Amino acid sequence: MSQHDEQRRKLLGRLNRRLAYTAPLLALVAGGGVLQASAGDDAAMADVTSPSDASLMLASNHTEGAAEAQGEAEGEAQGEAEGEAEGGDSAAVARPEGYSPAYSETGDNPQQMLARGEALYYDTSLSSNGLACANCHGSNGQDMGYNSTFEQPFPHRVAMGAHQFGMSAVHADEMVQICMVVPMAAEPLEWGGEALTSLAAYVVEVQKRVAGEPHDL
Ligand code: HEC
Repeated sequence: MSQHDEQRRKLLGRLNRRLAYTAPLLALVAGGGVLQASAGDDAAMADVTSPSDASLMLASNHTEGAAEAQGEAEGEAQGEAEGEAEGGDSAAVARPEGYSPAYSETGDNPQQMLARGEALYYDTSLSSNGLACANCHGSNGQDMGYNSTFEQPFPHRVAMGAHQFGMSAVHADEMVQICMVVPMAAEPLEWGGEALTSLAAYVVEVQKRVAGEPHDL
């Protein structure tokens, strides 16, 4: 094992202990390359390359009970890793006044809209850090990096929305915006634009799939 691997392992170990997370998904961003691994997966960890000035982003599944404390630790660790301040203005991610979504949050959205949403889910150009939604949430219907809140239909409470934006519940499009702004480190998508609309419609179907319900994917 190289010295760099060793450093990386130590950094991960430190974050691990600090967050005390249970079933984590780590997306490691190093020099433009992206790696996903579950913590403790030695083979995957050893694959990590270009370890210098890597920024570490973290997505973790945690239990409801631990959500409160962990949300804070997560924000802190994320802020540390990204050099960004914690906390945000919900104005950027909450539905603006007078906006009415062009997708249905109960489902039954056109196949074409879902296909477009799926394409965007894999699109790294949406972020400023080289990540796509799929890097944290899985490819080919693998569905990962979600907390158990996601098993309920929208709108519902999401720890990231509550902790970072003071939102008591979020709609699917608001959740897309939250992940755009926080883990994707990008500007929110245009409200009512086809990107946000189709990603939100896609997320509604993924929600059903994760909940084990009939879906259109
Ligand atoms: C760097 C990792 C990362 C990336 C990239 C990312 N997310 Fe997330 N996402 C998370 C984390 C962490 C959570 C868990 C938030 C929580 O439960 O508090 C989450 C939760 C979610 C949820 C479920 C929230 C719920 O419980 O209802 C959805 C939907 C979602 N993300 C969509 C997206 C979409 C769409 C994109 C791309 C535009 C994206 N995410 C990109 C980390 C990421």
